[in-house]
Amino acid sequence: MPKRYLVTAALPYSNNRLHVGHIAGAYLPADCYVRYLRACGHEVRFICGSDDNGVAIEISALRENSTPQDIAGHFHQRQKSDFAGLLIDFDIYGGTHHPDYLELHERLSQEFFTRIHERGYFTKRRTKQLYDPQAGRFLPDRFVRGTCHFCGFDRATGDQCEHCGQMIEPLLLKNPISVITDQPAEVRDTTHWYLQLNSFQRPLKEWLESKQGQWRPSVLNFALGQIKQGLPERSMTRDISWGVPVPLDDPDARGKVLYVWFDAPIGYMSFTAAWCAEHEGDWKAYEQWWSDPQTTIIHFIGEDNTVFHALTWPAMLMADGRHQLPTAVVANNYLNQKVAGVTRKISKSTTPPDAPVWIEEYLKKGLDPDALRYYLTAQAPETARADFDPDEFVARNNGELVAALGNFVNRTLTFAAKYFDGKVPDAAARTNVDRAHLAQSEEALTKVGACLDGHRFRAGLEELMAYARLCNEYFSTRAPWASRKDNLADCGAAIATCIHAIHYLGIMAWPFMPGSARKLLSQLGLPEEPIRWEPPPPPQTGAALGEPAILFTKLESGALE
Ligand code: 2FM
Ligand code: ZN
Repeated sequence: MPKRYLVTAALPYSNNRLHVGHIAGAYLPADCYVRYLRACGHEVRFICGSDDNGVAIEISALRENSTPQDIAGHFHQRQKSDFAGLLIDFDIYGGTHHPDYLELHERLSQEFFTRIHERGYFTKRRTKQLYDPQAGRFLPDRFVRGTCHFCGFDRATGDQCEHCGQMIEPLLLKNPISVITDQPAEVRDTTHWYLQLNSFQRPLKEWLESKQGQWRPSVLNFALGQIKQGLPERSMTRDISWGVPVPLDDPDARGKVLYVWFDAPIGYMSFTAAWCAEHEGDWKAYEQWWSDPQTTIIHFIGEDNTVFHALTWPAMLMADGRHQLPTAVVANNYLNQKVAGVTRKISKSTTPPDAPVWIEEYLKKGLDPDALRYYLTAQAPETARADFDPDEFVARNNGELVAALGNFVNRTLTFAAKYFDGKVPDAAARTNVDRAHLAQSEEALTKVGACLDGHRFRAGLEELMAYARLCNEYFSTRAPWASRKDNLADCGAAIATCIHAIHYLGIMAWPFMPGSARKLLSQLGLPEEPIRWEPPPPPQTGAALGEPAILFTKLESGALE
């Protein structure tokens, strides 16, 4: 039965380039999943866009001597190109402060805030915060540095100490200095609105417990663990000027904006609304997606976003009360990189700008996006952190994609071109071995599908490759190069079966490697799309095949250097 799915991928902050960790964390599994759902005939909207608000963007602007608008606009465009280069194909790529999406985004975010306010789930609280008298502004966490109150490290930033890793309480930092003016910061009174997360502890717990056995244990254990410790109230407003203005008619709210983690997940909604406006002429149609219990909503995220998607966002949805809760939150762990055999974190400050872990750099080399999609799925940090290892990338490309999948397709199609005039041979002399291979093909399709249904992308890819190896074994067992000489009918049946198997491979490869799946189908002389996740019909005897061509390129060692 076709169903409706709304799939979102975490909105990346638009102040940096994307790297392989981002892609492996959220965007690639989400794209695989969406391609699979569509092939199964479901109606899907795939939503993403840039997270343009918040302190991080303001700080980048300050460092670059630019404006938050320019920084956000600039990286929005570059990230969008990275996604396109890797064939990650959203229905909409919005931006929470992008001129094309700003009006709807502010409207929905403010509506959300007002509604939660009216329903009494915010506490207005007077608090103390660091202030830069010279700049005339309050200093949110990352705008201050000072001496760590845990370990004494003298360059800790107001959110976390780089030396001891502890979360910093900015007011406890010793000798706090403003990063804007390098002048000492002072403590002043301010007012903020805190979401009463504690009011939702019980419903959140029940909701999360109902997901046992369906969600990844890492997400559930983490979220339930936080509830056990008790959920603190969280301030949902900030004293900065870049963001969505707090929509309260209260002098204390003047000049304040919503906390970026309040408006960012609403971006999923406002971009759905923008899609509806553009394609259906009615932005309000987004409600059909967000409020209708028939829609399955899945959020794909990286591990550091778990607290917000499994607790804060559902609590916001409960407090607002108009929409349904996510059906699933799928989180991957971090992907580190291996440099000279040593595992290192990928980061703007320590990873060289021309390292191939940056998507732009990878694409600049003219390498196949599918080779990276393959490696990142094969290495997907689904249950534990994993490493991006350039040597392993080359080894797996050559040893698996080229030697197993590409080889089977190529040996079949060059054989058909040479000995059957580039046409599908007659399969009338089909043997039990051929029939058994087709039965195994159908089984493989079901197995890969079951993995994708369960968000087990890495296992799905393993099944696909196991099937490709089986196809090579089948080719060797049937030895068409020998039967060609004395039993052309038998040879034809084997090659027709291989052609049929290639069609299966094209379907199964589609979610993981869409570019190669297209090439493969066109080499079969078939239309590239639409792909249907069902056993393909047998190839028609005499139908013309396309030109055989190399599917995957063998790489030299050091190809990523
Ligand atoms: O971690 C990040 O990059 C955040 N910008 C993710 C936001 S996800 C969502 F809520 F928008
Ligand atoms: Zn410290």
